[in-house]
Amino acid sequence: MSDIPVITIDGPSGSGKGTISRTLAQMLGWHFLDSGALYRLVGLGGARHHIANTDEEKIANYARELAVRFETGDPDAEPRIYLEDHEVSGELRTETCGELASQVAAIPAVREALLARQRDFRQAPGLVADGRDMGTTVFPEANLKIYLTASAEVRAQRRYKQLKDKGISVNLAALVQDINKRDARDSSRSVSPLVPAIDAIVVDTSEMDIPQVMNRVQELVRQALPDVTLGSPSG
Ligand code: C5P
Repeated sequence: MSDIPVITIDGPSGSGKGTISRTLAQMLGWHFLDSGALYRLVGLGGARHHIANTDEEKIANYARELAVRFETGDPDAEPRIYLEDHEVSGELRTETCGELASQVAAIPAVREALLARQRDFRQAPGLVADGRDMGTTVFPEANLKIYLTASAEVRAQRRYKQLKDKGISVNLAALVQDINKRDARDSSRSVSPLVPAIDAIVVDTSEMDIPQVMNRVQELVRQALPDVTLGSPSG
C-alpha cells in the first residue's frame, strides 16, 4: 500500500467541496483529483459518440480509454480540461453534463473502469481527492476523510448564484428539483452510493460560508496530520 498521504472530501453537489478541496490542495502543495470531472467527461464523450447508456460494456470501455488532459498552468485558475484534444472546461460544468455524469456514474462497470485512473493521481507529496466515494471506495485507507453536506435548498441557492454569476439563466425551483433527483440517484445506486464513510467527519455547511468551512477543514487537517504545513491558498 502506498504511504503517500491522501485526504478525501466527499459530499453532494453544492456542499462547497469543489472550492474547499482545490484550495486545500493548494495550501498543502499537494495534487488534486476532481473525480466528478472524470464522470462528466465520460458522460459528455459518451453522448458525443452516441454511445447509449444502456450499452454498459461500450461506455465502460470508453471510460477506460478516456483521452483526457488536465492542464494546470495558473494555480489560482481552474485547470483547463481537454477531451480528445478539444477543450471542454466550460461545457463540463453545465447542468446537462452533471446529469449525464450522474447517469453513467450509476453503471458499475464505468466506476470500475475509472478506479485505477483515479488511484494514479496519488503522487508525492500527497493528494486531496474530491468526489462522492473517495473515502468509501477509491481511497478507503485515506489519512483523513471529510464529508461536506448542506440542505438541498442551500445547495440549490449556491448553484443558482454560481450559474447567474456566469451569465447562465436558470430557474431556482427547477434547480432544487434537479438537485433532489441527482441526490436520489447518487444515493440509491447499487455501487458506491453517496454516503459518508463510517470513519468520515461530517461537516454540515448549510449555515457556514466558505472561509468558515475552510477554517474547520484546516483544523481537521492539523489534528489528523500534525506534520504537514499549510501554506497560503495561492501556494
Ligand atoms: O462533483 P460533480 O458534480 O462534478 O459530479 C458529477 C456527477 O458525477 C455526480 O452527480 C455523481 O453522479 C458523479 N460522481 C460520482 N462519483 C464521484 C464523483 C462524481 O458518482 N466520485
